[in-house]
Amino acid sequence: MHLTRRHFLALTAAAALTPRLVIASQHSSSGIRKIQLVAREESRYMLDDSTATTLWQYSEPELRLRQGEPVEIEFVNELSQPSSIHWHGLRVDNAMDGVTGLTQDAVQPGETFVYKFTPQDAGTFWAHTHHRTFEQLARGLYLPLIVEEATDTEYETELVMMLDDWRIQSDGQIDLSSLEDMHDWSHSGRLGNVVTINKQLDPSFTVSAGDRIRIRLINAANARVITVKMPLPGWIIAKDGQPLPMVAPIVDALNLAPAERYDLVLDVPDEPGAKLPLGFIYRGEFYQIGALTVGERGPRLAERSEPSTLPANPISLAATDKTDLKLSLNMEGGAMRWLSEAIYKGERLSGRELMQRQQAWAFNGIANMAEEPMFDVSRGSTVELELINSTGWAHAMHFHGHHFQSTSANYPPGSLHDTLLMAPGERATVRMLADNPGKWLLHCHMIEHQMAGMKTWFNVS
Ligand code: C2O
Ligand code: CU
Repeated sequence: MHLTRRHFLALTAAAALTPRLVIASQHSSSGIRKIQLVAREESRYMLDDSTATTLWQYSEPELRLRQGEPVEIEFVNELSQPSSIHWHGLRVDNAMDGVTGLTQDAVQPGETFVYKFTPQDAGTFWAHTHHRTFEQLARGLYLPLIVEEATDTEYETELVMMLDDWRIQSDGQIDLSSLEDMHDWSHSGRLGNVVTINKQLDPSFTVSAGDRIRIRLINAANARVITVKMPLPGWIIAKDGQPLPMVAPIVDALNLAPAERYDLVLDVPDEPGAKLPLGFIYRGEFYQIGALTVGERGPRLAERSEPSTLPANPISLAATDKTDLKLSLNMEGGAMRWLSEAIYKGERLSGRELMQRQQAWAFNGIANMAEEPMFDVSRGSTVELELINSTGWAHAMHFHGHHFQSTSANYPPGSLHDTLLMAPGERATVRMLADNPGKWLLHCHMIEHQMAGMKTWFNVS
């Protein structure tokens, strides 16, 4: 998980001599990189050295791909449940999007599925199950997906920090009995009691004094918005895998909704031996979840000034001079603003009938997947949606297959998103270019909200 730039460059040089250095990955004669990802149950000393927690994991700790390099990922399901993999934020062909029931059938235990795509965008993404996500994600079925820029960047060290929030019992195991707790589903979603980085409690990351580091921050929690406090000032250089047009200084703490990512640049002070705690703020208190440990001084790659922007990705934005479709998406329901009725599976049901079916939320009066898409547009259309959060809870609105711009004032100017955090009562307008044909999911990434109604889809033909 911790790869320094120097280390990385050394590896690349060595790789010329020993081409099979990259584990579980090989290049076929066609130049397609082949990777196998096995989903299986494993124990991990996540909390301390004596408690092994049983998790569901992939056989690799991280996926590191190259922009423009075709890849074939053979997914092997060794779990006791059907599963799938979704490449969150990557603009892939619809058939590779991994959404069971919409883009593919679930991969049964003992079976395999080959995902094929070529990452178009460099950046910080992640891969996770998209089947019984409320359970499988809570059990650990995710990994960082890093697409490296084709050109070298100016950071000496790179750290991936994938945050998660677990609900752990006193015996150190994941609490599975509360997975379908309707109180969680109708309130904030499943909040845990242990926050980890890279599936480790309070890890320490060693960095060299004077280094400029890039941190790739990912929130893999089922539902917790994590307000991350970095130990040093610095800059945000990308949001949800897409470079910012201008780097933005980090102002105080960063609100990271489930599924959101930030790429940050920090300059390590010239203080060998220093230990810099990092953590999150919850109800005004600081909770440490890790630390940067400053080692000896290393050679510098660049002079210190404001970092440059990352090279832009080949993504087309919504038209500025025309809008092909305008609509609003009203988020309703949940505790305190209970639904009085909604359509569920084509039937109009009362609030009580909805609750009996574990439904508590709706988009425009429809709970959960409708037969018909929320909108259907032809490829190349610019779509403008007004998102209205009429609930008393925060939501993380995620569009599959597309990035979009928003009017939300809570992000650095020019941010592109695949996931947008919306506070209770907030409204935001989003604009996107619907340029990827297929059936795409649109849901809240607080997974329990998604299960309990906040899920729809749109079609691009
Ligand atoms: Cu992170 Cu529907 O996905
Ligand atoms: Cu939500």
